[in-house]
Amino acid sequence: MDRKTGIDLGTSSLRICVKGRGLVYNEPTAAAFSSERELLCYGEKAKRMLGRTPADKDAIRPLRAGVIANFEDSVEMLSAILSDKGLRGAISRPKIAVSVPYGITEVERNAFENVCVAASGGRDIFMVIKQPMAAAAGCGVDVLNTKGRLICDIGGGNTETSVIVFRGIASAGTARVGGDDLDEAIARYVKDSYNVVIGPQTAEQIKLAAGSAHRLTESGDYGVCGRNMLTGQVVRVILRSSEVREAMSEVLDRITEHIKSVLEHIPPQISSDVFESGMTLCGGTASLPGLDRYFSEKLSMPVTVADEPSLCVIRGTEKIIASAGEFLQVVSEGEEY
Ligand SMILES: Nc1ncnc2c1ncn2[C@@H]1O[C@H](COP(=O)(O)OP(=O)(O)OP(=O)(O)O)[C@@H](O)[C@H]1O
Ligand SMILES: [Mg+2]
Repeated sequence: MDRKTGIDLGTSSLRICVKGRGLVYNEPTAAAFSSERELLCYGEKAKRMLGRTPADKDAIRPLRAGVIANFEDSVEMLSAILSDKGLRGAISRPKIAVSVPYGITEVERNAFENVCVAASGGRDIFMVIKQPMAAAAGCGVDVLNTKGRLICDIGGGNTETSVIVFRGIASAGTARVGGDDLDEAIARYVKDSYNVVIGPQTAEQIKLAAGSAHRLTESGDYGVCGRNMLTGQVVRVILRSSEVREAMSEVLDRITEHIKSVLEHIPPQISSDVFESGMTLCGGTASLPGLDRYFSEKLSMPVTVADEPSLCVIRGTEKIIASAGEFLQVVSEGEEY
């Protein structure tokens, strides 16, 4: 049986949907291997092992900044997941659609396709989806008829901003900056201010617990443990939410500059529609408290956060693989389907 299967292979999370079944997988993009390079586990379990594996094991994240950094490991991971979900084998043959970030190189794009081909047992990809189109469809935009909508997808490694208008992308851009950079900025701040070293996972926990993009959405203090660089001892640091915001500000500025650069290229005839309808934020980082208010002030336009923002791309993919006709041509990279 052919199963139309949609894949969003993100820097932070891998999401898989199946036509008629909906979302069947949503876990961190991580895998752990033995010293013989045998896959031990993937997803949530592998993420918990990052940075704390014994010498004979290796936990990795196979994507960096939105693109595939490790081809073989990505194939192993995806292949095991498809098998475990009953989507790969003699009876169940997946027909895979994969969404790819906008503005990546051909080599990077081919890597997404080839990972899916290899992981599904040599099956051709039936469709390569433009990720901004999947994001827009997942945000509820009618991409065939919209007058002009600005969508910004801020993930773990990428920020993708696009203006969708009547069946096409009027202006778009991708910046290799996202939630991972916020985590790194927090870790750097703790090191520079307290001489304490923390790992990226701890920095992410700080962001999730006390992170905020606007002073009006700051929350309480957050305590973390790390190693003092001078004494070597494990110490506890209490961070104020305002400090976390300060630590992240340079990265948020970079994202703002990127969005402005996309806005500069909007054709003048649609810019009033875009500024009136405002910007819709999606991607996991859109859940950062106050980010809508922050961008609204910086860009002088209304900003809203989509429902379940981290799921917009896969929800859009789900709609796409269930549809037919012109919609498919508009959202695909022009592959056969
Ligand atoms: N409540 C939250 N506050 C702040 N950041 C959050 C929150 N929830 C998730 N994130 C961040 O969202 C990011 C993941 O977003 P998402 O799942 O959209 O990424 P991705 O699609 O895997 O990556 P990309 O599209 O960049 O390749 C992570 O950096 C995570 O820390
Ligand atoms: Mg993403």
